[in-house]
Amino acid sequence: MCGIVGYIGQRDAYPVIIKGLKRLEYRGYDSAGITLFGGAAHVLKTKGKVTDLEKLASTHASAGATLGLGHTRWATHGVPSDVNAHPHTSNSGKISIVHNGIIENYASIKKILTENGFTFSSDTDTEVLVNLIEYIKLSQGVKIGEAVQISLSQVVGAYAIAVFDVERPNEIVVAKLGSPLAIGIGKDEYFIASDASPFIEYTNRTIYLEDNEMAVISRKKGFRMYSIVGGEALTPNIQEIQLSLEKIEKGGFEHFMLKEIHEQPNAILDTFRGRLFVEEQQINISGIEQHLDVFKNVDRITIVACGTSWHAGLVAEYLFEDAARIPVEVEYASEFRYRNPVINKGDVVIAISQSGETADTLAAVKLAKEKGAFVFGICNVVGSSIARETHSGAYTHAGPEIGVASTKAFTTQLTVITMMGLRLGQLRGTISKEAFDRVARHLVELPKQIGNLLKFANQIKAIAEEYKDAANFLYLGRGYNFPAALEGALKLKEISYIHAEGYPAAEMKHGPIALIDENMPVVVIATNKGHYEKIVSNIQEIKSRNAKIISIVTKGDESVKTLSDHVIEIPEVTEALVPILSSIPLQLLSYYIAIMRGCNVDQPRNLAKSVTVE
Ligand code: F6R
Repeated sequence: MCGIVGYIGQRDAYPVIIKGLKRLEYRGYDSAGITLFGGAAHVLKTKGKVTDLEKLASTHASAGATLGLGHTRWATHGVPSDVNAHPHTSNSGKISIVHNGIIENYASIKKILTENGFTFSSDTDTEVLVNLIEYIKLSQGVKIGEAVQISLSQVVGAYAIAVFDVERPNEIVVAKLGSPLAIGIGKDEYFIASDASPFIEYTNRTIYLEDNEMAVISRKKGFRMYSIVGGEALTPNIQEIQLSLEKIEKGGFEHFMLKEIHEQPNAILDTFRGRLFVEEQQINISGIEQHLDVFKNVDRITIVACGTSWHAGLVAEYLFEDAARIPVEVEYASEFRYRNPVINKGDVVIAISQSGETADTLAAVKLAKEKGAFVFGICNVVGSSIARETHSGAYTHAGPEIGVASTKAFTTQLTVITMMGLRLGQLRGTISKEAFDRVARHLVELPKQIGNLLKFANQIKAIAEEYKDAANFLYLGRGYNFPAALEGALKLKEISYIHAEGYPAAEMKHGPIALIDENMPVVVIATNKGHYEKIVSNIQEIKSRNAKIISIVTKGDESVKTLSDHVIEIPEVTEALVPILSSIPLQLLSYYIAIMRGCNVDQPRNLAKSVTVE
């Protein structure tokens, strides 16, 4: 987590860095800071958001600096506070650092530095790192680039760092291990950032540093890249990236989350466009086509992911087992990586991740590779660490998702998963032509159907008004709708701070039913495919305990309607696609409830979009 930005060139650095930090606030927003150098270095930092940093900067001279570093933080070591905010400065005041990641062995390094007379004012691991760099620089008589390289060889953990030393006023040193770092190359100017969004209006020429790579970026000597481990010079791989400014701005919506909910028709279209050919019964996902033998002969699939992406993995379990008859296990990446999982050569591991940077998922990918699995990534962010680390994969093409709560990332992950399920079923001869045709035809109808569902946002708003003060919510579903229920509950709790649980509907009587009374709203996904009669019985059980029932039903349903306090209709689709449609009203319900409770939906407390710490 945390976002870092840097600039060195001819422009006024302050506005470039502030704008860049605002674009990276999805990575963390509990404190922010900046180092500017224009003859002398000054550091400004504060608890709070980038707008708080701007207020602070308005009382200081910030114009005229042509070199700067900035940081927006998601706290790991030390509470959010002014003193723990980055940039951190070495004891001499000469070296500044911004850091995204965790230095795991900071305590032992701190002890050595303390014995050598260094003092510390913050609780952070980063302040230890900047002083280690200073200690090496002074004790070994080396320049800042070499001091960074030697220091990093003593560090255990993860980092993307940018370092500035007033004694080398025309240079910024950057390095990466585990956390992402992109460098934008302009004409006689360079931009540094955790992703490319802070610099897309200036340049599309980008270098994504790989693990164990560092660079010395110099106003005079240009860009030089080295290996952190051996120090040898490396040739940079410059890519032309395609990212439009329009896509990362709010475009007239009040919040990114609402914009992203409304983007789903197009996002889903972009996901299957050029890959799904209904009449020909053809699916062309190059990451599968290039490895047909792997998928044809696979004996089992393990899916690793976190949060919403894990819910998408659960849908994949139902679909792959049903359509392709492949046993599937879905694991929390954080549990998988610390067990000793049985993964054999020939196994396929699928990692699902919007950001492609989630630390636990990335570590699970590396572990699976070590154990000989073929690893396939379903990612949204192009060029992200997981996308690069996997053997092959499929991008979701959802476009940038800025709101912390995942919306279009989820439904586009499900779109990729549906296409994969169909293709694997076809490849292994386990899906009939009729079933393939039915699912494919329904899939291409989704953008239009979601567009229509979004027109009923006011109906959902009215339901939100009635339940916005509830203390708890229960979400129930069966079969494919069980993961959809989990996702609905996660959406509500993360942005409205209402306690919400998702359950398989039948499991309710094994415990959660004890919670039900007239104050408990229960959201039931009760569409007509799958286990309809069973879920109707579950609703009866809830009704007889006086809960308030909000049901998501198939258009035209009568039985559930009579049992429910509120009914939201979705069009009839094949069972595997119901989670995509049922997610839309559930996203809107969470959004409106959170807004009515005065919550910051795009930046909910304690969360960050990209969880690059474990
Ligand atoms: C929930 C949410 C998180 C993420 C999780 C994994 O709305 O956004 O639960 O799904 O942190 O993130 P990715 O998909 O980037 O690996």
